[in-house]
Amino acid sequence: MSLSESAGGVPVLVLREGSSRSRGGEAQHANIMAARVVAETVKSSLGPKGMDKMLVDSFGDVTITSDGRKILDEMDIQHPAAKMMVEVAKTQDNEVGDGTTTAVVVSGSLLSKAEELIEKKVHPTIIIDGYKKAADKALELLEKIAIKVSPLDKEKIKMVAMTSMASKLVAEHRDYFADLAVKAVLQVAEKRDGEYKADVDDVKVEKKPGESLTDTKLINGIVLDKEIVHSGMPKRVENAKIALINTALEIEKTEFDAKINIESPEQMDAFLKQEETMLREMVDKIVATGANVVLCQKGIDDMVQHFLARKGIVAVRRIKKSDVEKLAKATGGKIMTNIEDMSRTDLGYANLVEERKIGDDKMTFVEGCKHPHAVTILIRGGTERIVDEAERSLHDALCVVRDIVEEPKILAGGGAPELEVSRTLKEYSGTLPGREQLAVVRFAEALEAVPITLAENAGLDPIDILSELRARHEKGEVWAGVEIHTGKIQNMSKAGVFEPLAVKKQIIKSATEAASMILKIDDVIAAGKMKAPPTPGGPGGMGGMGGMGPGAGEY
Ligand SMILES: Nc1ncnc2c1ncn2[C@@H]1O[C@H](COP(=O)(O)OP(=O)(O)O)[C@@H](O)[C@H]1O
Ligand SMILES: [Mg+2]
Repeated sequence: MSLSESAGGVPVLVLREGSSRSRGGEAQHANIMAARVVAETVKSSLGPKGMDKMLVDSFGDVTITSDGRKILDEMDIQHPAAKMMVEVAKTQDNEVGDGTTTAVVVSGSLLSKAEELIEKKVHPTIIIDGYKKAADKALELLEKIAIKVSPLDKEKIKMVAMTSMASKLVAEHRDYFADLAVKAVLQVAEKRDGEYKADVDDVKVEKKPGESLTDTKLINGIVLDKEIVHSGMPKRVENAKIALINTALEIEKTEFDAKINIESPEQMDAFLKQEETMLREMVDKIVATGANVVLCQKGIDDMVQHFLARKGIVAVRRIKKSDVEKLAKATGGKIMTNIEDMSRTDLGYANLVEERKIGDDKMTFVEGCKHPHAVTILIRGGTERIVDEAERSLHDALCVVRDIVEEPKILAGGGAPELEVSRTLKEYSGTLPGREQLAVVRFAEALEAVPITLAENAGLDPIDILSELRARHEKGEVWAGVEIHTGKIQNMSKAGVFEPLAVKKQIIKSATEAASMILKIDDVIAAGKMKAPPTPGGPGGMGGMGGMGPGAGEY
């Protein structure tokens, strides 16, 4: 069957020439294959012994990473079903910030298990229903076995941050980085209606190659990748009283061209004087507030810079909007649009504003803020690639700390929760009728991909590990998992490998959603590629005929 039918012998074309279509089992198989290929690709980077990937983009830039999301982002994936796996990683990253590789691996595993059932003639709809039931049950169970912690329990939270960095390039220094992540997030966390809320965006991450990873610092304030505008200004101001301004300290240009006829040198002089007076007034307004630092989102006129310098006031211009907002949170100042209205109470405060040379660049540090609701981590490290990967790892660490502060429940890792859920689901499947039962069992088996992959990546025997894990969970050892560094099965909560409940829950949700979405597709209709318009007389002159590509005549 095709989308073209014959009406009285004349074929009716529904699709444009060059479109292609695949249906039913064929479409399903192709989609599942594509998604599984993606999962296979990221699989080897799961866990502390996972490998890194070297990715080269079309400009020849090299990225080295083991971060699931980054790998998929850089891969430039074309296949529509494979792209859905990229979405899984994105959702996981946006929602909880960690567990991206696991989500993709579980999703791929769910699909390969589903394919076994499809081969046995179980209809995809039944599989999808079964998976949904299994996922609900899994979420319920994770919630039940989760360990409650205090949102301010630094020691426990630090352990989770360390787990999230165990598989990264910075693993060697994870103790150091975990400390920074915990301090930073707890600093910006706020209590609202009895619950803590933290926004990782309030932790600004700046990076500069040079020195070493352990020279990375947490600054109680904001670091700007900008220099002080005028060489006549001091490079260091203590007890900084800061004016935050988001308009230009310049004379506004009119929107249309205005012509001024000047007929005598006196007129010219008067005109320039007028301008100067206006600019001087701006500076006077700022001086009157008592500010000794001006941080401006827009430009600052040369003359204003000069006047400010003469008053000993420091200024930085063209600061990003997001940074100005962070500065307001860090210093407690108010962002002013109109300097006319500005007064002393609008100023922010910092112990020190100083320009420092970091690597080859000058940066401005606004630090020693009293109760900053925004802070900065300045990452240092041998090369650009190292600071980039350190930034990604730190992102995961900041996110997991945020996750726990907001939902203070954790699970031990190393495949323990997956195995426990798997065991319970197998038990639960017995209560279900007929074919759904098969789907729930397959779901349970799919989760075993986590400990299997962790073991495989560490060079351990996955079959031995899995059978022992199953047996230990059967005996009621909820936290039995595979400790990758010793290669032994042990109580993972004793091993100190902890992860946020939120991450594990999101893995189940995103993996199930993606797998179900892919299983539900039984028809792929792809439009033909857009062609460049024909150039008359040129080699592409017959471009209009190019539509007769493979498959073009099928429908
Ligand atoms: N010491 C360890 N022993 C066993 N498993 C560990 C250990 N440290 C971390 N893990 C496991 O590694 C997995 C996370 O690996 P990771 O590479 O960060 O992938 P993801 O992108 O999914 O977060 C989790 O399942 C976690 O429990
Ligand atoms: Mg991780």
